Amino acid sequence: MSLWDDLTTYQEQTSGRSILSMFDDRKRAADFSAQTDGMLFDYSKTTLDKVGRDLLIRLAEASGVAAKRDAMFSGAKINETEGRAVLHTALRNPGGCVTVDGADVMPAVRATHARMRAFSDDVRQGRFQGQGGRITDVVNIGIGGSDLGPAMACIALSPYVDGPRAHFVSNVDGAHVRDVLRGLNPKTTLVIVASKTFTTIETMTNAETARRWMAATVADPAAQFAAVSTAAEKTAAFGIDGARVFGFEDWVGGRYSMWGPVGLVLMLAIGPDRFDDFLAGGAAMDAHFRAAPFSENLPVLLALIGIWHNQICGHATRAVLPYDQRLARLPAYLQQLEMESNGKRVGMDGVDLPYHSGPIVWGEPGTNGQHAFYQLIHQGTRVVPCEFLLAREGHEPDLAHQHLLLMANCLAQSEALMKGRSLDAARAIMAHKGLTGAELDRQARHRVFPGNRPSTTLLYPRLTPFVLGQIIALYEHRVFVEGVILGLNSYDQWGVELGKELALALQPVLEGRESAADKDGSTAMLVDYLRPTLRG
Ligand code: F6P
Repeated sequence: MSLWDDLTTYQEQTSGRSILSMFDDRKRAADFSAQTDGMLFDYSKTTLDKVGRDLLIRLAEASGVAAKRDAMFSGAKINETEGRAVLHTALRNPGGCVTVDGADVMPAVRATHARMRAFSDDVRQGRFQGQGGRITDVVNIGIGGSDLGPAMACIALSPYVDGPRAHFVSNVDGAHVRDVLRGLNPKTTLVIVASKTFTTIETMTNAETARRWMAATVADPAAQFAAVSTAAEKTAAFGIDGARVFGFEDWVGGRYSMWGPVGLVLMLAIGPDRFDDFLAGGAAMDAHFRAAPFSENLPVLLALIGIWHNQICGHATRAVLPYDQRLARLPAYLQQLEMESNGKRVGMDGVDLPYHSGPIVWGEPGTNGQHAFYQLIHQGTRVVPCEFLLAREGHEPDLAHQHLLLMANCLAQSEALMKGRSLDAARAIMAHKGLTGAELDRQARHRVFPGNRPSTTLLYPRLTPFVLGQIIALYEHRVFVEGVILGLNSYDQWGVELGKELALALQPVLEGRESAADKDGSTAMLVDYLRPTLRG
């Protein structure tokens, strides 16, 4: 029997067990939680006991997580389908030493980081100016990994923003670029074109639009453009001065890239020192991930709980629920990180996976979610494991009473999910309201909460740059561990290619230059409907 079989058997044997009753063991909360650098991860409100946890840890061990982790940090080419190393961790460890193909990669990392710092200081202190004076606004044009990370972080760290205002354009929908540029002064705006490949059609199209917008007002639009890319010749062809091009290597995956030049917009907004605090938080999580035993290792535990809920218990989705308004874009960021990384159908060897791959990740900040989709989480027929995040302190000391309310709501949700409400309790409430007989029964049944719904809670002192770095690195490594256990490549993304190819082929069809005759009936009908609109 394999460990997967053992886990399935264990799940079948324990599936009806009450999470709440497991707290009869007074040490459960302490035994099923782990800490690092001021963070507390509580997974005691899951159905796992020591037997289940041990089985999962053995699964991680048998999958070679430790060896693959060390291979990743050492610069081995673990992205096998693209023949690349996976070294985003090098970007947050400037003092480290890593070689790829025998060459030390760190001098270039340090040099680029120093150039980013110098450029950020120049912009923030007014030495680099627009053609109408000091830079007041920065527009980051990028998509996916060249957008979601810095966009999420600029909101998360807004209390620390003391530089130019940051704006983000990602969607090829002209509405996005139009709405962002409207109201900005081209003479004091810096545009960063962020694209690892510098070929992504959305980004290049938006960059052209921004350049035209700038050219309508300033004499030398290119002088107010910077670029972030691995493709130096393409940024030069676009006309961006090499002095404002910040390169990185192909061993940084797009969705793992915010620690380097893709984070330039964040560095401009919060300043280089705070950006370095963010890197330090990531590096601290790296150190924890490399050193802590699996039973106390936050990324490993988070991954094992993910595998437990998704692959073993069959809960297809997980909700990420930050009780931290400034983490509003964290779920969107994690959707790319987790679903683009682990949403695969074959293993590293190209053979179909024998189990489901990565989870469907979704979520919204609390308490907003409570007034929207929590109904389903509490009473729907499907179980959605929930991942709560909460700070001990907010950044608004004068609004501490609101933070208290926020904390109470967060803790109440995980408690309610676990405890539920029995039919007897619901009947007592209805009886107290004066109902009797069949009506009491009927009304009571609507007020039953099945309970026993699993959740985890991640607590941290305050959403500082350091803590954000810890959180992002925690989730990155969680994705890595889940990918290793599932035996897939977390670092390619072939699944995004087909749609891109077909979109390219549909452009001449929509323009009317090519016929839709060879399209399927549905696509041909949709083209037919859309064409007159385009012509009009
Ligand atoms: O959607 C596919 C993808 O390649 C992502 O992996 C990436 O983050 C995004 O497109 C943007 O790519 P680039 O930074 O090369 O423009």
